[in-house]
Amino acid sequence: MSRLVVASNRVTVASDTKARAGGLAVALQDALQEHGGVWFGWSGKVAAKPSPQPDLTTVGRVTFATVDLSRKNYNEYYNGFANRTLWPLVHYRLDLTAFSQQNYSGYLHVNTIFASKLHPLLKPKDLIWVHDYHLIPLGEELRSKGVSQPMGFFLHTPFPAMEILTALPSHRTLVKALCAYDLIGFQTENDLRAFLDYIVHEAGGAIMGDHLIQVFGRTVRVEIFPIGIDTDDMVAAGKRSIQAGKKAEHLPTGQHERDWIIGVDRLDYSKGLVERFRSFQRLLEKHPAYRSKVRLLQIAPPSRSEVPEYKEIRHMLEAEAGHINGRFAEYDWVPINYLNKSFTRQDLASFYRSSRIGLVTPLRDGMNLVAKEYVAAQNPHDPGVLVLSRFAGAARELDAALIVNPFDFDQVANAIAEGLEMSFEQRHERWEAMMEKLHNNTLSTWRDNFLRILGQAPYTI
Ligand code: UDP
Ligand code: G6P
Repeated sequence: MSRLVVASNRVTVASDTKARAGGLAVALQDALQEHGGVWFGWSGKVAAKPSPQPDLTTVGRVTFATVDLSRKNYNEYYNGFANRTLWPLVHYRLDLTAFSQQNYSGYLHVNTIFASKLHPLLKPKDLIWVHDYHLIPLGEELRSKGVSQPMGFFLHTPFPAMEILTALPSHRTLVKALCAYDLIGFQTENDLRAFLDYIVHEAGGAIMGDHLIQVFGRTVRVEIFPIGIDTDDMVAAGKRSIQAGKKAEHLPTGQHERDWIIGVDRLDYSKGLVERFRSFQRLLEKHPAYRSKVRLLQIAPPSRSEVPEYKEIRHMLEAEAGHINGRFAEYDWVPINYLNKSFTRQDLASFYRSSRIGLVTPLRDGMNLVAKEYVAAQNPHDPGVLVLSRFAGAARELDAALIVNPFDFDQVANAIAEGLEMSFEQRHERWEAMMEKLHNNTLSTWRDNFLRILGQAPYTI
């Protein structure tokens, strides 16, 4: 079996036991531990003088190769082009997309640095798998150094519609760089369709059938690989939460046995948290009987805190939660429990299992692993109900959830009420249908499918 070399901006060194938020790191940590290999990327640290060589740490079957960033590179590449340009753009937020030539140069520069640091670690038979929007140009940089082994790229975020993408001044250069990979993986059919639309109508490429495209003088394979979770692990964590009598075993309950609604999201404007709070407010307005009975537990660990748009959303949410709590709270009941900290997955499993409703309402999301985790952690004898945004990639598979438009507060409020009143038979039927999907497409399925197809590169027509 070829050695696997994974590259991503965010790396979680396995010995680091702190609770972390972020789907990519959670998924890759599990996927790599089982398979073994090298995981290359940013250490998460800013250093005055980053060392020329990566720091190597081996834990179990994985060697972590991490590099620090200088303050300038961190600002231009991570805070700048990755998270003030690409992130809002791929999440359809042109209003928040800031383009700066300096940040773009910094982004390209960091990708060049990463390529020079990764290159000496590579062996001729490695399979190279690059992840997410931070590292789009990495493959092209490695190719320019003579790397010829199979290289795949997986985009964890949505791929935006052509009309959105073409607003980016460097769109063509970036898509050309993407096509230096042999295999490009997307989360959903929507993303693949948007990409192909760009290839045919903007880049002058051609679809050759059987998942192959010809563009920029190259033949590239494109596929959909919806990312999964370690379903068995989450089921076990859900069970453990009850058996072990952990502190989070049961959230304190009011009159109703299980009256919690749970949301778990990085504090990010793409997650639709302001809209979610307003929908919850609408529930309390339209259905006064739920006052003093249901509570929203919103876990929102701060994310990308130096980026101005993230500071702004944090302020907006504090104001929104304060406003709703001020308006509806009683001396013995507060409607929104809003927590800006992260929890371990075991704690999350306990919270999920103790909550009647899982409220997952992003305005756009590549997949959303929390939606899948919520379902997997439920008690089969009394499952809760998932209320899921149609704009999350997960809605494709989890279509037995109550699917909502997060911009429609009345619809979300009605779905919450429907979930709270749903019979056991209906809850169970929906839960079972979703569990079947989660067992058929796990994190290992995602990884193995990607690597199997990548192993067949180069592809011929
Ligand atoms: N997560 C966590 N602790 C927290 C909040 C989130 O471990 O306090 C994890 C969560 O379990 C999930 C991931 O972070 O696995 C979030 O992934 P998702 O795809 O939902 O969203 P992303 O943050 O990647 O946009
Ligand atoms: C999303 C992105 C990942 C990123 C994660 C956490 O899942 O697709 O690439 O790692 O958010 O964000 P952060 O900026 O903390 O890495």
